[in-house]
Amino acid sequence: MTDPDSTSPAPDPQQPADPQPTDPGRREVLRQGALLTATALGLGGGLTLLTRRPAPAEPAPDPQTAAGRVIRPTGPYDTQEAMTGYRDMTTYNNFYELGLGKDDPARHAGALPTRPWTVVVDGEVKKPVTLDIDTLQSWFPLEDRIYRMRCVEGWSMVMPWFGFPLAALLRRLEPTGAARYVQFTAINAPDKLPGQRPWVLEWPYTEGLRLDEALHPLTLLAVGLEGRSLPAQNGAPLRLVVPWKYGFKGIKAIVRMTLTRTQPQTTWALAAPDEYGFYANVNPAVPHPRWSQATEQRIGESGRRPTLPFNGYGEQVAGLYSGLDLRRNF
Ligand code: MTE
Repeated sequence: MTDPDSTSPAPDPQQPADPQPTDPGRREVLRQGALLTATALGLGGGLTLLTRRPAPAEPAPDPQTAAGRVIRPTGPYDTQEAMTGYRDMTTYNNFYELGLGKDDPARHAGALPTRPWTVVVDGEVKKPVTLDIDTLQSWFPLEDRIYRMRCVEGWSMVMPWFGFPLAALLRRLEPTGAARYVQFTAINAPDKLPGQRPWVLEWPYTEGLRLDEALHPLTLLAVGLEGRSLPAQNGAPLRLVVPWKYGFKGIKAIVRMTLTRTQPQTTWALAAPDEYGFYANVNPAVPHPRWSQATEQRIGESGRRPTLPFNGYGEQVAGLYSGLDLRRNF
């Protein structure tokens, strides 16, 4: 991830294919090189690309998400702020499995097969399940949630998600008394996903939450965006949304959720532990080692606006972290 104000060149789509690393030394060299590539070309390099995006492919209408439905902030968790335009939300993306450039996920969206799709929930849970995505989403009433989204790179959007609280799923499956965390795993399909062919990050992409964070009513599993099916570039068919954390916690294309006793490994913390922590709570007082987090560029606006602690959700979530040093646990 680079300085968000920098004017990085457009990503080179010709990433060299990398042989599988064999020894730890070589692996470390590759990791550093890959991270340089990922950070120099990917996250953070994209604000300059806003003018050169492809027209988004219109996602197939979904009976549950009538296309064109007008979304209004009516729920207790909805922000009243102006929503980001659909085109911006669906053509300015981070989804490294589909490429490093901001416009790559929309261009390569067709490479991600989102049906059939199986989701596994296992580990420290009394009723583990393996089920198909349509069954999973039929279990719960789906609701709109208009949330702020703040990327660690320094840009933000307001996105109207459609989905169900992760807590509803976890409670139904009954975590055991030993469960402390949830690990999320994304699709691993290097034969299909162009971004997984070069060794850019440790695949599959993984993320994690503490169980109390996962059970918080703001934490959502999204299956739609702005009243339509979730586009592939935004993480179809199932994607995590945790609005008080930096956007990289919002893992896309989830295939597995495992309840664990110990803190799970997460992709970005593994790639650059000094830069990306497990918690990743939005915090204007703790700069990224290479740039400030005090302000953000709201996509579609000119100028930068102040970033709010916990992305403006402090009233709801600050209590989860009482007694925790948020500088050390960044
Ligand atoms: N999930 C997967 N599987 N792969 C990714 O590369 N990128 C993350 C997150 N989820 C990513 C991912 C990052 S860095 C951000 S900022 C958000 O997705 C971007 O979400 P959006 O493109 O829907 O705005």
